[in-house]
Amino acid sequence: MHVPEGFRDAGPTLRALAAARGLRIGAAVNVQALRDDADYRAVLAAEFNAVTAENAMKFAPFQPERGIFRFDDADELVSFAEAHGMTVRGHTLAWHETLPSWLTEADHTPGELLDILHTHIQTVVDHFRGRVFAWDVVNEAVAEDGSYRDTFWHRHAGPRFVDLAFQWAREADPDARLFYNDFQGEGSGHRAKTIYRFVKRLRARGVPIDGVGLQMHLRADRPPNRRHIVRAVKRFASLGLETHITELDVRVPVPADWLVLDRQASVYGDVFSAATASPGCTNVVLWGFTDRYSWIPHRFEDWGAALPFDDSYRPKPAYAAIATELGKRNSQ
Ligand code: G3I
Repeated sequence: MHVPEGFRDAGPTLRALAAARGLRIGAAVNVQALRDDADYRAVLAAEFNAVTAENAMKFAPFQPERGIFRFDDADELVSFAEAHGMTVRGHTLAWHETLPSWLTEADHTPGELLDILHTHIQTVVDHFRGRVFAWDVVNEAVAEDGSYRDTFWHRHAGPRFVDLAFQWAREADPDARLFYNDFQGEGSGHRAKTIYRFVKRLRARGVPIDGVGLQMHLRADRPPNRRHIVRAVKRFASLGLETHITELDVRVPVPADWLVLDRQASVYGDVFSAATASPGCTNVVLWGFTDRYSWIPHRFEDWGAALPFDDSYRPKPAYAAIATELGKRNSQ
């Protein structure tokens, strides 16, 4: 396979270091880049042993018209993953963004909406049965105050959509691990407690949930405390839940100088140090791996450079910081 010039020095890859300690290290994948960019494919396959679809497994791309399912992009990603010994996290079944207009612009009754969600989950999870090992079943459903967030599914289908989504996913693939995924579940703030209580209640109701996803779209100047991440994972483990870090990136103001990139590296290092010290944390997925395709500049003006490879696939200080943490004999 072609390897981009200057891509890396000698030494073990991130995936080799992670595998040696039983951890999965993944990246969210842009399927267009996977198709068009040989350097992208080479670095992804060399450095990571897990993938998530950044967008290809969301509701609208899967079901652009009612009852018409399109799996081509996601199939391509899953085949790539299988060819390179990578596991696949599915993202995401019940979320309020990236919904098709046939769904959001029509006047469906709550019962019809639940039927639509049921068919979607059943069809999608069944299609990837045995090939997607974990699903983000419900994404970002909790409000700051611990109640349900006011989103499309909650507003129009009612709160039952959460429990039902997990049940339907379990029925469609009993072996897939089912996750609740959200942001700020790891900090010392209100949301961390709120998310913990939310998943605790799901467990108490017998909802088939196996784990919690901590998204972690971080800013280099406001990093979470390493101890708080360790504590969050421990608390979920006390409920019998596994933790995956699911969408890690660390944005900085751009253009970024070396000081800022070093600061960013220490944030990545802290997150990986917390992950490797936490037996309950089995997966760390970055939200991309190269600045070339990161979502950050599209969403946050004057911010970017959030990933461990720059836009020419040169490893940044963050790459070395991750490798160092993964390579430590025992950081527990
Ligand atoms: O595909 C169209 C393209 O045809 C069109 O020309 C272009 C014009 O804007 O839009 C393209 O779609 C965009 C899509 O990304 C693919 O690039 C959408 O507008 C854009 O809204 C979409 O953003 C994604 C966002 O989720 C919404 O689905 C981001 O790439 C993706 O990084 C982001 O990821 C989310 C996680 O799923 C959940 N957690 C938060 C995270 C960040 O928002």
